[in-house]
Amino acid sequence: MNLRPVGSEAAFDLADLHDKAFDRPWTALAFDELLKSPGVFAVLGEAGEPATAKGFVLCRAIAGEAEILTIAVDPAARRRGWGAALVAMAAGIARETGSEAMFLEVAADNTAAIALYQATGFSRVGLRKGYYPHADGAKDAVVMRRALNT
Ligand SMILES: CC(C)(COP(=O)(O)OP(=O)(O)OC[C@H]1O[C@@H](n2cnc3c(N)ncnc32)[C@H](O)[C@@H]1OP(=O)(O)O)[C@@H](O)C(=O)NCCC(=O)NCCS
Repeated sequence: MNLRPVGSEAAFDLADLHDKAFDRPWTALAFDELLKSPGVFAVLGEAGEPATAKGFVLCRAIAGEAEILTIAVDPAARRRGWGAALVAMAAGIARETGSEAMFLEVAADNTAAIALYQATGFSRVGLRKGYYPHADGAKDAVVMRRALNT
């Protein structure tokens, strides 16, 4: 398991992993632009020789608060600790760059992600009704928070 911070050079790997994990994929161009935005950073997880991308987390850290923008693990590599390792490294980077707390929004029916976040120290702090547009009707988002300064 190899995890490292990456920049725009990894935009295609991130878009590929995102495409495997979500119904609405983000383009490599979108990742490239995000990674050039203030405070945005990503961690990529790889394994094997030659290295194969297994998962990533994309975050923004500004003015003492960090946010997980998205996280995805290759479906074939899930439940092996990649998600937890990515969150741990992102939290460490956010803490080192001055963030005191980390937030995220997650669809209320995304039980795998909510379980991951609970397992990595996040607690529910709010609910945004109808936050995610969806063909079957808008979905609620759970807002979660984890302190980084303890
Ligand atoms: C959510 C996601 C990133 C988890 O990645 P992962 O590498 O499988 O997670 P881990 O193996 O590190 O799991 C760590 C812990 O989280 C919990 N967990 C993770 N997936 C779970 C699942 N499907 N069901 C129940 N608990 C789960 C467990 O407590 C797990 O520990 P355990 O395996 O020892 O029981 C992955 O399922 C994914 O990419 N989903 C699609 C994209 C997505 O929904 N992203 C979140 C958007 S907010």
